[in-house]
Amino acid sequence: MAELFSPLTLRDVTFKNRIAVSPMSQYRAKDGHANSWHAVHLGRFAMGGAGLVYAEATAVEPDGRRTHGDLGLWQDAHIDDLALITKFIREEGSVPGIQLGHAGRKASKRRPWHGETPVDDEDVTERNEAPWPAIAPSPFPYAKGWPDLRRCRRQILIG
Ligand SMILES: Cc1cc2nc3c(=O)[nH]c(=O)nc-3n(C[C@H](O)[C@H](O)[C@H](O)COP(=O)(O)O)c2cc1C
Repeated sequence: MAELFSPLTLRDVTFKNRIAVSPMSQYRAKDGHANSWHAVHLGRFAMGGAGLVYAEATAVEPDGRRTHGDLGLWQDAHIDDLALITKFIREEGSVPGIQLGHAGRKASKRRPWHGETPVDDEDVTERNEAPWPAIAPSPFPYAKGWPDLRRCRRQILIG
């Protein structure tokens, strides 16, 4: 039977053990950029010996963020901040992972400590953070009281 501390190889990636740190959103990014908070948050798990360290849900486009504090990877300028962190994780013998994501209808939400409710004018006044139109496969709001989706991409599958 495989043991927790035995290596695991999946295709060409070898993990030194079977401990994987789940993605944990920090809501600390600015304009999608990772910073020293993320470096310490993720780096300490590598220092602790985890085989795999996942970066939190990372938006593939600005509209796909859940909150203004979400990590992003929608422009080249985001790469260097993340690369510094992944370099450190690798140096510690761990494998860096990332959870690419799109918030869909859950976009434009307040950070947990601001209530996880939709961003509105109050956030503009208090933090200069404006709401933005969410994009989702259907036009239905996330929940009662959430704004209508102003844009909606529909995909038609043929075949
Ligand atoms: C602070 C925090 C942030 C989280 N952020 C994410 C996230 O970005 N993406 C995600 O899929 N899950 C997120 N989760 C859920 C965790 O990844 C994980 O699935 C959950 O804690 C259950 O893990 P367990 O089954 O090992 O207990 C978060 C959990 C916590 C506690």
